[in-house]
Amino acid sequence: MKKCLFVPIILLLSLSLTAQQIPSVVGKGKAIDPYKYTTVKKASYQKAAVSSAHPLASEVGALIMKQGGNAFDAAIATQLALAVVYPAAGNLGGGGFLLARKKDGELIGLDYREAAPANASRDMYLDEQGNARISLSQNGHLASGIPGTVAGLFATLPYAKLSFARLVQPAIDLAEKGFIITEREAISLNSTRESFIRYNTKPTAFVKNEKWKAGDTLIQKELAGTLKRMQKEGAQGFYGGETAKLIIEEMQRGKGIISLEDLKNYTAKLREPIRFTYRGHQIISFSPPSSGGILIAQMMKMIEKFPVNSYGFQTAKSVQLMIEAERRAYADRAEHLGDPDFWQVPVDSLISESYLSRRMLDYQPDKAGISSQIKAGTIAQSEETTHLSIIDAQGNLVSVTTTLNGGYGSRTVVGGAGFLLNNEMDDFSVKPGVPNMYGALGGEANAIVPGKRMLSSMTPTLVIQNGKPYLTIGTPGGTTIPTSVFQALVNLIDFKMDLDNAINKPKFHHQWMPDEVTIEKDFLPETKKQLEAMGYKMKERSPIGRTEGIRILTNGKREAVADKRGDDSVAGF
Ligand code: GLY
Repeated sequence: MKKCLFVPIILLLSLSLTAQQIPSVVGKGKAIDPYKYTTVKKASYQKAAVSSAHPLASEVGALIMKQGGNAFDAAIATQLALAVVYPAAGNLGGGGFLLARKKDGELIGLDYREAAPANASRDMYLDEQGNARISLSQNGHLASGIPGTVAGLFATLPYAKLSFARLVQPAIDLAEKGFIITEREAISLNSTRESFIRYNTKPTAFVKNEKWKAGDTLIQKELAGTLKRMQKEGAQGFYGGETAKLIIEEMQRGKGIISLEDLKNYTAKLREPIRFTYRGHQIISFSPPSSGGILIAQMMKMIEKFPVNSYGFQTAKSVQLMIEAERRAYADRAEHLGDPDFWQVPVDSLISESYLSRRMLDYQPDKAGISSQIKAGTIAQSEETTHLSIIDAQGNLVSVTTTLNGGYGSRTVVGGAGFLLNNEMDDFSVKPGVPNMYGALGGEANAIVPGKRMLSSMTPTLVIQNGKPYLTIGTPGGTTIPTSVFQALVNLIDFKMDLDNAINKPKFHHQWMPDEVTIEKDFLPETKKQLEAMGYKMKERSPIGRTEGIRILTNGKREAVADKRGDDSVAGF
C-alpha cells in the first residue's frame, strides 16, 4: 500500500473556526500553566495517557483527549506543542512517522519523512577532489530536506475528531505567551549559541545577549505567526502563501535549494507496516524508508531460538547474543535499505525465518564476531529525534517518532517564520564509505536522488498481546533507535520487567561499523569485563535514547512511562 494523501475539503472547512471561538487552555492559572509545570516519570491512568519529551506537550495531549479528542487528536496537538516547547527535536521543519492501531484493529503507517529537493544531486556534498563535505550535509541551509511534518499532521486529521484550529491553539499560546525552560533546555540552547549565530541570516528567538538559565521564559512570536497561518489556511499555511515565501527567501539568503515547487509537491504517504511475531506477541513497526521495523524484526527473530530468559538480564551471554544480532542486522541496513519508491528493498526476504537462521550460522558463543568479516546477507537482491506514545479511552494506540535529525536540526531558523529546518540530508549516504553523523554507512540503496526520502532509523512500534492492544513504544537516538526498542521489548517479554525498568535499565549498542559496543555509564562492569575478554571493544558513551512507552495492564489501566534520561514526562486521566 502506498498512497498519497490529500486533505478533504470538509476538513479544510473545519479550519474556518476563528481563534476567538477557541477557548485558550494555556496561560497562568489555566489548565496548562506554562510558567509552572512538573515532570512525571511514571503513572497509571484509568482512561488515556501520553508520554512525550516534554511535560507541557504531554499535558496538551492529555487535555485534548479529556475534551473529547481521541489519540489522533492528541498526537497532532502534542506534536505541535513539542514544536514550540522542545525546539531541539519537536518541529514543523522536520519529518516523521506515525504508526497507529485503531480500536477496530486497522493499522495505519503514515510516512512524512523529509525528501531530497528536486535540485539535489548524488554528489552534491563532494568537493572537486571527490571528498565528502559533511559540514554541508549537517549544518545550514543545504542540509535540509523538504519538510514533511505539517503534511503528516494534516494526513492524520481524518482520523481525529476535533478541528485543526482547536488542536493548534495550545501551541499558538505556548509560542505567543512563552513558557519557562528547563535546566536541560537552557544548557542545550547555550551550547548551540555559536551555531545559531553562524547558520542564521536573521536574529532568532534562541539567541539572547545573556546566557539562558532554567526558569527563563522563551517566547516565539514568529513561530506563533506560522502556526496561526496554519490555523487559518491549513497545510497551505505552511506549504504555500506567506510561510512558503519566507522559506524560499531564507533559502535564497543562505544558498539552499528547497524551491516553491518542492514545497507544493510534498505529500505524506501511507506505508504497509512491518509485522512479525516474537514469543507469541504480535509486533508492528515501521517499514522503509525507515530501517527501524526491519531491524527490530531481524534482531528479535535472530535471538528467538535462544533461551534468552535463562541466560539472565545483561549477563555476558545474553548481551553477546544480542550484540551479534545487532551487528548482522546493521550490516544489512547499510547494503539493502533505502526509500522503497526508489530502491527495491527485499523486505520479505530480510525478515524471513530461513534467511535469519542462516545469518546466525556463524555466531559463536563466547567469541566476538568481526564486522569486516560479516557482510550484509546475500539476497536475491545528535540523535535529537523525539518520540510520543499515546493510548486513548477507546483503545486507539498511536506511536509517533519525528525528527529534525541533529539537535536543532540544521540550526537554521526560517527568518520571519520562527521554525528550525532539519539537517536530514545527512541521513542519505553522501558518499559510499563515508559515515553520517551517527557513524552509519550506506551505499547505492540510500544515495541521493531528487524526491527520494533518506533512510531513517525511527522505530515507532506497537505490540498486540493475546489479540489485544498492549503496548505503544519508541525513542529518539539516531542509529541507536532500533537497538533501544529491541532491548526494551526483550526486557519486557523475555526478562518480564515492568515498563519502567524495561525502559530505564542501561543499554548497549552495536551497529556493525564501527566494530565496537557502546554502553551507557551504568552498564554492569562485570559484564563489560567478560565481553572484553571475548574480544569485544567496549566504549562508554552518552545516554542511549529517550524511550516513551504506554501499556494497557490486565485491569485496563494505562501504565505510562517517560524515560529518565531527559525532561520526558507523562500525563493522563
Ligand atoms: N534522523 C534520524 C533518523 O531518522 O533515523
